[in-house]
Amino acid sequence: MVNVAAGLSPLMRRHLGEPTLALLHQVGQIASRMGVPFYLVGGSVRDLLLDHAPKDLDLVVEGDAAMLASEVARRLSGQALTVSQFGTASVIVEGNRLDLASARKETYARPGALPRVVASTLLEDLGRRDFTINTMAVALSWSSFGTLVDMHGGQADLRGRLVRILHPRSFVDDATRILRAIRYEQRLGFRLEDETSLRLGEAVAGGMFDTISGDRLRRELDLLLQEEEPLKPLLRAAGLGVLRGLYAPLDGVPGLHRLVGAEQPDDPLVYLAVIASHLTTKENEAFIKRLNLTSRWAQVVRDTISLRPLLGEVASTTSVVQLCHMLDCLSHSAVKAHTLMEGKSAASEKLRRYLAEYRYVKPSLSGRELLALGVPQGPTVGAVLARLREARLEGRIANRSEEVALVGALLKDPSLTGTG
Ligand code: CTP
Repeated sequence: MVNVAAGLSPLMRRHLGEPTLALLHQVGQIASRMGVPFYLVGGSVRDLLLDHAPKDLDLVVEGDAAMLASEVARRLSGQALTVSQFGTASVIVEGNRLDLASARKETYARPGALPRVVASTLLEDLGRRDFTINTMAVALSWSSFGTLVDMHGGQADLRGRLVRILHPRSFVDDATRILRAIRYEQRLGFRLEDETSLRLGEAVAGGMFDTISGDRLRRELDLLLQEEEPLKPLLRAAGLGVLRGLYAPLDGVPGLHRLVGAEQPDDPLVYLAVIASHLTTKENEAFIKRLNLTSRWAQVVRDTISLRPLLGEVASTTSVVQLCHMLDCLSHSAVKAHTLMEGKSAASEKLRRYLAEYRYVKPSLSGRELLALGVPQGPTVGAVLARLREARLEGRIANRSEEVALVGALLKDPSLTGTG
């Protein structure tokens, strides 16, 4: 945690760079002339205070964001983009895109409902947020540029390394915050503050996830899977009963525990495959429905379940061609998930070789070249390509001229060409 007695300008210079800092100064001056206070807020300020580069800039205007965006575009020869219905507006200046939001407050008609949003002051905007560490702002207006606004003890919690909600109903209002709390805690190496932990447990036990739509839950799970080390928040979520709260049969997640100490994959969908790997087909379909999984995600979890009963055959087969027949139609994320969960078993070794080697084995002749060699147009082209690949996989041929020779032999095979 950095000492900010001198304001945040030095930190902004270090992490945002001089050109971005100069641009924020210019926009701050324009905002000041218009009489609208202008701030950097939320995660960007949290990250700066932790001496990290923010992922993006969250900018808030105490006034009309669209008017500021068009004034900035006019004065700095930029381009104002269309305004969203949520009071945000964007402007592109010298290749930089700035997303400006009007300060707003939210009220929830019932738990989990999308909030009703109305324009407000910065202080109300900060007060509606999830955790104290996300409630700080830095003034960007001309006269106060770089001054920190910290109304909820955000600095103290950054120092104490705590994730703390602002009010006891926070997780009831918005249960997606349960996953967010775990994400920040594990990403930053923080701890859930005691009351926050208690309220989180109550919200999970009280079925608060049931108030949230599948799409919102999936988006939040996606953010968690995109973390640099998703295993940490996933294990924590399992330990707190949060995965069970999300969808009861996820309870236990035996696959997840088998990943501890294993190589950590870069592909976030491998983790999705792992958490669903023990589900029955019926449970899996209900999971897909509950989180309204995209077709790609649904394919990954379905393939993970389909591969499970084939693992014995994967382990025992001595044929690379048969192995490829089993695996070629499955998503690589599913295959990778089983590779990791299987540890050092025979099946794991086969799956590993498939992913590293066999799946890339392809004939060097193209379909067009096969036609030129006399293969009749139509399904025979695909059949010959498949034979060439099998021969390559079995090591019977190793180069292009051997492929050409094999094509010649296959053309004499009436069962393949349908001739003769
Ligand atoms: N926020 C909130 N409740 C939510 C989602 C978001 O209060 N359910 C607030 C938080 O103050 C957060 C801000 O909206 O800082 C922006 O959300 P997001 O971009 O998701 O958060 P960042 O803090 O920028 O997170 P990250 O570091 O993961 O990008």
